[in-house]
Amino acid sequence: MTVTPPISQVAVIGCGAMGSGIAQVIATAGLRVTLVDRTRADLERGRTNIEKSLDRLVAKGTIDSSAATGIIERIHCSVSMDSIGDAGAVIEAVFEEPAVKREVITVIDTVAPSASFVATNTSSLSVTAIAAASSQPSRVVGMHFFNPVPILPLVEIVRALQSSDEAVEMARLLAEQIGKHPVVVNDAPGFVANRLLIPMINEAICLLEQGIAAKEDIDTIMKLGASHPMGPLALADLIGLDICLAILEVLHRDLEEDKYRPAPLLRRMVDAGHLGRKEGQGFYVYR
Ligand code: CAA
Repeated sequence: MTVTPPISQVAVIGCGAMGSGIAQVIATAGLRVTLVDRTRADLERGRTNIEKSLDRLVAKGTIDSSAATGIIERIHCSVSMDSIGDAGAVIEAVFEEPAVKREVITVIDTVAPSASFVATNTSSLSVTAIAAASSQPSRVVGMHFFNPVPILPLVEIVRALQSSDEAVEMARLLAEQIGKHPVVVNDAPGFVANRLLIPMINEAICLLEQGIAAKEDIDTIMKLGASHPMGPLALADLIGLDICLAILEVLHRDLEEDKYRPAPLLRRMVDAGHLGRKEGQGFYVYR
């Protein structure tokens, strides 16, 4: 297997919570990042996310303020996909909509034909189906980061049916280079993490809906009884209830088992726009 030297520049497409967090950790490792989104306003929001996160890290002494300035300086923001041509690797973290992801992959083929691999950051979509949109499907892999990206060490490296061993290995090495702990898994609905995590969250919502326990008590039980850093309902709010629902729908549709059927309360909350922290209200209210 031929594996190229460490990558010095990475393009990240999409600067929402995941894309901005991914750009931050890559720049923190000393690599240059080209961060692309559709509008200046999107990029501004992404940059603000990064600055807030760096402020927290400076406040607790994990990094000093000159390191934070260097991290920001290594992130070049652009609204043009043409600016990613020099990147050694590309990570797309756009909206979790298969058609949108497939379209982005085809544009990456045109503007960055020589990137050593292209990663899709998806929570549950088929990496194999996304790779099928590419003219170079063997260089496509999944890189599944976890929220908050600057804090959680895991990256699931997802091997699609078409992924070459080289692409998987380069994605694994990049994850290590940026200080993450990669684990390679095969492509399957929800991969490993979300196939375990999201059904647990769904079951917690069923318990709440059935009146078995109050939301705070469900969360306390899992925090104190299973040593989880936060309870499943608070975690659902952090992930976003729309994302939890979308993942359950993929699990239910693709694995064809009733145990993955989304809780009716989850659907109602999404219908009501109570999407969790990002909207200020989910199972809990956020200021
Ligand atoms: N940037 C920088 N620092 C951050 C941060 C961010 N975005 N978010 C949290 N932190 C830091 C805080 O500053 C704090 O640092 P110190 O302990 O050194 O003071 C530390 O992380 C803990 O944060 P808080 O004190 O605010 O709160 P906490 O102790 O409750 O931890 C948490 C918050 C890190 C989110 C923790 O509760 C946790 O790890 N929860 C589980 C999160 C999880 O399971 N995520 C996976 C979701 S699934 C997913 O992402 C994949 C998917 O496809 C859906």
